[in-house]
Amino acid sequence: MTDDHARGVAAGEPQDVEGAEAVVHLREALYGVPVYKPGKPPTVVPDVVPYKMSSNENPFPPLPGVVEAVSEAARAMNRYPDMGGAELRTAIAADLGVSPEEIVPGTGSSGVLSAIVGASCEAGDEVVYAWRSFEAYPIMVALSGARSVQVPVTEDGRHDLAAMSAAITPDTRLVLVCSPNNPTGPAVGAAELEEFLSTVPEGVLVVLDEAYLEFVRDEAAVDGLAVYRAHPNVVLLRTFSKAYGLAGLRVGYAVARPRLATALRSCVIPFAVSDLAARAAIASLGAKKELFERVEHLVEERGRMLAALRDLGYDVPDTQSNFLWLPLEELAEGFAEAADARGLSVRPFAGEGVRVSVEVPEANDRLLEVARDFRGQAS
Ligand SMILES: Cc1ncc(COP(=O)(O)O)c(C=O)c1O
Repeated sequence: MTDDHARGVAAGEPQDVEGAEAVVHLREALYGVPVYKPGKPPTVVPDVVPYKMSSNENPFPPLPGVVEAVSEAARAMNRYPDMGGAELRTAIAADLGVSPEEIVPGTGSSGVLSAIVGASCEAGDEVVYAWRSFEAYPIMVALSGARSVQVPVTEDGRHDLAAMSAAITPDTRLVLVCSPNNPTGPAVGAAELEEFLSTVPEGVLVVLDEAYLEFVRDEAAVDGLAVYRAHPNVVLLRTFSKAYGLAGLRVGYAVARPRLATALRSCVIPFAVSDLAARAAIASLGAKKELFERVEHLVEERGRMLAALRDLGYDVPDTQSNFLWLPLEELAEGFAEAADARGLSVRPFAGEGVRVSVEVPEANDRLLEVARDFRGQAS
């Protein structure tokens, strides 16, 4: 018997929900929360293999060993997962050389970030971050009732850390640093971040969002673990969605000092990581060598695309991630339409630019053709 039957409502009978909508109280903070716009799937074009280059996903299918671990876990899906995620925390901690109590797993790193915002911010507080950056930031901040203080990135898509430092006020509770920055691509430098952190009051939490860490090749880029060890107010945010290719399973984590980690655990929803996701993550940590060979391949493809796009005259900033940023401004949507007509979905940000995720070589080649033709038409 379903819940509806238990309440005496016939299944399938249309419900009058209007009345309930009129009276139910919703938090003021919910009005004005921006809507998350996910990367759209490619349009089907006859005789053309479609590719999705709009969500910064990993184009490689899961390794057989990872699929096996998930299939095995699927046999016990009638049970809740381990509430504390002990095995997963132990595996991640061993991989990083920290203690399991410093690891807070969650439903993707987005789930963990929402716990971080919930633990540190309330109405009236301020959260400083670069803009444009990951589009979930303004959503999570708005949901908490806090206020976003967005500091424009520089012309070359980098965090303007001096301006971010100047934007910190007595109301600032949280700073989000995205390295590499989604969608512009560059990583934050180790020296500039160190200088920035020396200006941040010790009570202000700084999140270093390293979703694309494994794609970084810039030697001057920040070393998250070293920064974490040196600064008690820094928390690292990491994910299995990108380099590890587990986006569909939703597992990420924070690395935080024990007091903060305990607080975050109480903000993460119970049983946030399914056993399937935990098993896949543990199996992936055990298959790092193979997975990182794939990452290397994507990094090579990224380099090839960056050089080709720049040769075509596109002003693409450095990228240390699995995507490239084309600052096309008012041409952004036209470019996305041109790509779509060739079976490629990319991610336009109207009036600003287009983010293109690195895919398999055939898709990347086609994207470069679109870029060449578009350049010809636009000039
Ligand atoms: C910068 C950044 N942080 C965090 C995330 C969240 O990833 P997930 O929730 O899949 O771990 C993303 C996803 O695109 C991202 O770009």
